[in-house]
Amino acid sequence: MIKKKTVKDVDVNGKRVLVRVDFNVPLDKATGAITDDIRIRAALPTIQYLSEQGARVILCSHMGRPKGEVVEALRLDPVAERLSELLGAPVRKMDQVIGPEVLVVVEAMRPGDVLLLENLRFEPGETKNDPDFAKALASLADVYVNDAFGAAHRAHASTEGVAHFLPAVAGFLMEKELDTLSGLLEEPKRPFIAVLGGNKVSDKLGVIGRFLDICDEILTGGGMCFTLMKAQGLAIGKSLNEEDQLPQVRSFLDKSIEKGTALRVPEDVVVAASFAEDAEHQVVEAGEMPEGWMGLDIGPLTIEAYRASLLDAGTVFWNGPMGVFEWEAFAAGTRGVAEAIVESHAVSVSGGGDTSAALKKFGLENKFTHVSTGGGASMEFLEGADLPGVSALLNK
Ligand code: 3PG
Repeated sequence: MIKKKTVKDVDVNGKRVLVRVDFNVPLDKATGAITDDIRIRAALPTIQYLSEQGARVILCSHMGRPKGEVVEALRLDPVAERLSELLGAPVRKMDQVIGPEVLVVVEAMRPGDVLLLENLRFEPGETKNDPDFAKALASLADVYVNDAFGAAHRAHASTEGVAHFLPAVAGFLMEKELDTLSGLLEEPKRPFIAVLGGNKVSDKLGVIGRFLDICDEILTGGGMCFTLMKAQGLAIGKSLNEEDQLPQVRSFLDKSIEKGTALRVPEDVVVAASFAEDAEHQVVEAGEMPEGWMGLDIGPLTIEAYRASLLDAGTVFWNGPMGVFEWEAFAAGTRGVAEAIVESHAVSVSGGGDTSAALKKFGLENKFTHVSTGGGASMEFLEGADLPGVSALLNK
């Protein structure tokens, strides 16, 4: 992979540095409180480094999808508060993204100060990658740093457009994500096992195709595995199914035989009578799913079988829970897989917000080699796509 210049390759002392971070963190629906701050913590090394180097640090991020309008619940005030706690230093938060108020405050910044702009997606120009908006953002700074790996698959004004107007380099998180994920593609310790779950098989098609080429085994669970089971002719009751994906999924099953890369589906499943936390449930063998019931977790035989494989792995990439882990009755599969990965001596990398939430729930988030802050971005990178937010940065 082409190496990108980083914050270490530019002089930032006394400079105004615009830093794109991905502070798109989950919020509690009722209270608005941040429920997982991993993305804020992950950006701290870059922010601290720049501040210590005497830069004037202007942070910008999106949150949610407000579609170019101000949405009160998506203001970044709680993020600024949490960031300030984590930095142990004040973080001034603007209520605007660009404009005269912002310019006045930026002009008054002293070396080491940290400022957070308002949610970028309140501006219609952000997701449209409007050059005028990108120029206005760029006019706030002398240097641009992209540390938002999670948003690097978006060609937006703050991830791509702005890089046309300023010297553009990677932050430490971006560098670490790219190095770790490239390592998986370039020289994984074998056996290399991918664990794929989550609801939609359609979200994982690109990555399954690629992993059939580079992995030794793919273990599947979550809602997506039922389309695979259906493609094998197994009964799936009322489980999630993406009928339109069946031809593609069948071609993956053929490719797995051709390549000798096992594409495994559960041997048994925890099925529920309805989609509810307290639903009546039972374990059934794959193919024996009763009519009208739905699969909400992988079963105990599958957990044991997956565990046996994972304990011998050299490298594991995991994206997507094995079941509805938020509900105790359907959490065993996700917990079992997470524990097996941690107990193995494998290089372990996870991607996606749900997977990181599951690791957090089980207290295992610090036991992985790397918990990627990217969901879509990590999948697209592993598929082999060029990420616009990465391509826009200066090469080493
Ligand atoms: C993410 O959460 O995957 C990133 O922050 C990107 O968000 P988006 O899918 O709304 O562009």
